[in-house]
Amino acid sequence: MPDLNLLGISGSLRRESSNTSVLHTLQDSMPAGIEMSVLTLHGIPPYDQDLEREGVPRTVQEFRSAIEGSDGVILCSPEYNCGMPGVLKNALDWASRPAFASPMTGKPVLIVTSSPAFTGGVRAQAQLREVLAGMLARVIVWPQVVIPGVYGKIEGGRLVDEASLKFLLDAVGAFAAEIAALPRYS
Ligand code: FNR
Repeated sequence: MPDLNLLGISGSLRRESSNTSVLHTLQDSMPAGIEMSVLTLHGIPPYDQDLEREGVPRTVQEFRSAIEGSDGVILCSPEYNCGMPGVLKNALDWASRPAFASPMTGKPVLIVTSSPAFTGGVRAQAQLREVLAGMLARVIVWPQVVIPGVYGKIEGGRLVDEASLKFLLDAVGAFAAEIAALPRYS
């Protein structure tokens, strides 16, 4: 059994998504003792409080259970119009319920953004921090992983830029150490 079970969530639905590719590369490259499953947000309906009251959709229940069953979440997202994609905000809204006692409450989160732009999604990254604080998630403060110019760093659905992958794996190491130091693991 691995020491840590992480959940990677992509903020892009695109088939050839750079962000999903980054997560799959990370999944293949995890150090011993850490496993990660990768999830996309296909099938998550628009958040609707009536729908929630009448019966939470199965895809949302599965999404919430996946978060609940993980030791930590790695969000890997593009930036759309200087913010996070709507599908990711929508999924986080579902995951944030019930307020203050949701699967996101106290959940360790590492944020990664990647973009073909020079800025690498920094504005989405900042927005995500604010939104995750609002649902009491435990976002790792440092490092903040940004992968700029990502189109030149992906080949065959995998991140092939060694410097980016090292940066990412160092961040996962810091994330794992932070999770391991939490009271329920020590
Ligand atoms: C973008 N893109 C983009 N990139 C960026 O760095 N900052 C931005 O504000 C935006 N805005 C934006 C809006 C919309 C509606 C789209 C469709 C795209 C470009 C974006 O980073 C690029 O399409 C990535 O390839 C998306 O990530 P995936 O799908 O490759 O993971």
